[in-house]
Amino acid sequence: MGRVRGSNPLSRTVKILAIETSCDETAICLLECSGSLASPTFKVIANSLISQIEIHKEFGGVFPMLAKREHTKNLPIILDKVLKDAGEDPNKPDIDYIAVTSGPGLEPALWTGIVFAEELSQKWGKKVIPINHMEGHLFSSIFQNTDTLELPAIALLVSGGHTELVLVESFDKFRIIGRTRDDAVGEAFDKVARLLDLPYPGGPKISELANRSRARSKEGTFTFPRPMMKTSDYDFSYSGLKTSVLYAIQKLDSINNETKEDIARGFEEAAIEPLVYKTKSAIEEFGVGSIILGGGVSANTYLQSELKTLSNEYGLPLHLPKSDLSTDNAIMIAVAAYIRIVTERISIPEKIVANGNLSLDSN
Ligand code: KG4
Ligand code: ZN
Repeated sequence: MGRVRGSNPLSRTVKILAIETSCDETAICLLECSGSLASPTFKVIANSLISQIEIHKEFGGVFPMLAKREHTKNLPIILDKVLKDAGEDPNKPDIDYIAVTSGPGLEPALWTGIVFAEELSQKWGKKVIPINHMEGHLFSSIFQNTDTLELPAIALLVSGGHTELVLVESFDKFRIIGRTRDDAVGEAFDKVARLLDLPYPGGPKISELANRSRARSKEGTFTFPRPMMKTSDYDFSYSGLKTSVLYAIQKLDSINNETKEDIARGFEEAAIEPLVYKTKSAIEEFGVGSIILGGGVSANTYLQSELKTLSNEYGLPLHLPKSDLSTDNAIMIAVAAYIRIVTERISIPEKIVANGNLSLDSN
């Protein structure tokens, strides 16, 4: 397996203003990019993000029309900040491209970013590159590029909306080999958190409680079924696991903090084992050169440590996003846009359309 050199290194630096509004984070960054994909260099000139978590907390999840309203309000504010921090003229900034997330995600939220990007395009005379949000998560670990990405790679993309195993054949060829058949794993973390009266988003809190249970006792007291472990495909399922947790809670007379920690641990281990098991099967079937982890659930320390064990077992590098790039952000959108520029895959449509179900396979 050869070390994949990214196509032609560009002879100049490229400055990309990226916009991300697919869910509940409004984010804009200005990223300076240079070099080949084997050793790219990224410099954050300015970056700003407003999270809507506090606003959506009371609904226990993201409310699309509220997200749209907040993005509309926040986009001009963070654009001003980014341009100011970068020392750029707001009427004529020195940038090469605008990149915007066009899907997947909540369509009303996606549209706010797209309309905003197109207005800037008109005003500044710069082209807009539509970017697949999952392509951002897929390549978020390239940002710090500690290790050259050996391709083909197997990517486990795990977020609030997606659970996908993707065979990355090259920087421009991705094949989804497995996906969830119902809930996404991040969504399961959020739903189980709600059952345990924990705040949205549930992932970080469940992870914290589960780690406490593991620190306290070697064996867990709750064991839940591992969904889809025995199937010969690469698919996942999380709705049954959530129901098993619900039934276990209903059987209890009362729940103290230790019981909550033990339930969180039982759930987390049941949710993560199929992810690791199927990643392992894919490594064996496809003979990949590296493992990539991306998406909000990649922040989960138990998942990280299980994948590190797998990467040691097979002698494969594990590419993880830096902690602030695991959940939604604009830097990963700019990185994905740069990869498209270097691999000469920038299709600039007449009109960008939000596609809530945009697939990586469709690229
Ligand atoms: O990628 P992301 O920011 O948004 C989507 O595109 O969905 O992912 C958010 C998801 C939420 O479901 C959140 O609970 C989960 O990522 N998450 C975690 C952790 N941190 C965030 N799940 C498990 N463990 C974590 N530490
Ligand atoms: Zn995401």
